[in-house]
Amino acid sequence: MAATQKQPVTGAGPFNGLLTWVDQRFPLMQLWREHLAEYYAPKNFNFWYYFGSLSLLVLVLQIVTGIFLTMHYKPDAAQAFASVEYIMRDVPLGWLIRYMHSTGASAFFIVVYLHMFRGLMYGSYRQPRELVWIFGMVIYLCLMAEAFFGYLLPWGQMSYWGAQVIINLFDALPLIGPDLSLWIRGDYVVSDATLNRFFAFHVIAIPLVLLGLVAAHIMALHEVGSNNPDGIEIKKNKDPQTGRPLDGIPFHPYYTVKDILGVVVFAAVFAAILFFMPEFGGYFLEYNNFIPADPLKTPSHIAPVWYFTPYYSILRATTEGFMWYLGAGVIGYVALIILSVKEGGMKLLAAAVGVVLIAGFIFIEAKVWGVVLMGAAVMVFFLLPWLDRSPVKSIRYKGGLFKTVLAIFVIAFFVLGYFGTQPVTTAGTVVSQVCTMIYFAFFALMPWYSKMDQTRPEPQRVTG
Ligand code: HEM
Repeated sequence: MAATQKQPVTGAGPFNGLLTWVDQRFPLMQLWREHLAEYYAPKNFNFWYYFGSLSLLVLVLQIVTGIFLTMHYKPDAAQAFASVEYIMRDVPLGWLIRYMHSTGASAFFIVVYLHMFRGLMYGSYRQPRELVWIFGMVIYLCLMAEAFFGYLLPWGQMSYWGAQVIINLFDALPLIGPDLSLWIRGDYVVSDATLNRFFAFHVIAIPLVLLGLVAAHIMALHEVGSNNPDGIEIKKNKDPQTGRPLDGIPFHPYYTVKDILGVVVFAAVFAAILFFMPEFGGYFLEYNNFIPADPLKTPSHIAPVWYFTPYYSILRATTEGFMWYLGAGVIGYVALIILSVKEGGMKLLAAAVGVVLIAGFIFIEAKVWGVVLMGAAVMVFFLLPWLDRSPVKSIRYKGGLFKTVLAIFVIAFFVLGYFGTQPVTTAGTVVSQVCTMIYFAFFALMPWYSKMDQTRPEPQRVTG
């Protein structure tokens, strides 16, 4: 926009002159208006709407504490563990910065999981917010990579063996597997070369991508406008005179003030964990990681940090025996598609994919399918905007069927998460297998149950 067309900086503040000077050279006020002062957000945001701004807060916290950690940390296999101990014992307030960063990693996943769950409840992934969801999912993938790379850096036993296990998963891939895992490690075992590249990804490559993605996520959201707990579009009811949504309020000051409350409560809980139980019973910092990495001594029980354990459970649940049930599931699913869709092409495609999968189950070992299922369990979230066929967006107007299915899915996710932290037992494996089936059925059957569900009509205006 040309400088002359800009709205002038209003108000008689002491910095008006400076603001006008900047604004004539940079669209500062335009950005402020578009994204805060004149961004009309639905007036009925509730508790679940705290977690977007809290995710932003934790992102900044991780970057700032990460910068200070990097000042003292040594990305060298011979020095890494000792440099972390040095930070904890000798660097002034080093223990605080390190615990903020390690607790921050778990806090990040807690707020992001709650943020994603909000999307699931209110159908925020649905048209016109598909791209907001897709950017969110790519952010989630980057967060997982960021956490995985970061976990190797303290060079403790769990860092070392966790990385070893995960990189070895790539070994299972047909043809390229062994070369791929060698390429990722940069050596035949996890070593100094691996540590150096993980450090590079953790401190610069992924944070850069994350920042760009978060900007894209928010720009995409502001282009279409926020969803809300009623799941109705506030842009459909505008004041004819001002053109502003009747059910919208300016983000600033209303939601900036609301978000400050969220920040205060979050800070209190965060500080309580940080000062009183930073290891959180071994869930945030595993006890084995206080022992230096020893390539000659494998710990008896290797488990990833809690935020990865649902997926880890799915990996471990995929045994040779489980492949039969998986095969039966695929046959049932293909039959369901053939019986319920009208287009012949779709039926043919389903049958062909079914045959390829069953052949794959027979000829490719279960270990490979474990890796595939673990990856699919994350990637399947991308498809949500197209799987949900309900006439309404929000859970408020969905029926008992959807609510029950969602509750069962959440329970299955927690159960998988729990068993992923535990050593393998027969009972645990069976429960994880049942939960893996439930997990995938939640997505695979969504086009059917979301249509069958007895929904209530959405209101015209937000209900508060
Ligand atoms: C670094 C991580 C993330 C940050 C900083 C972030 C930030 C935000 C912010 C500030 C908002 C607007 C406020 C709000 O609606 O709560 C938002 C909305 C949204 N985010 Fe995220 N987000 C992140 C990760 C994700 C992930 C992983 C997903 C899903 C896969 C996601 C999906 C969404 C959706 C669907 C909305 C729109 C919600 C609505 O309007 O109801 N975000 N995000």
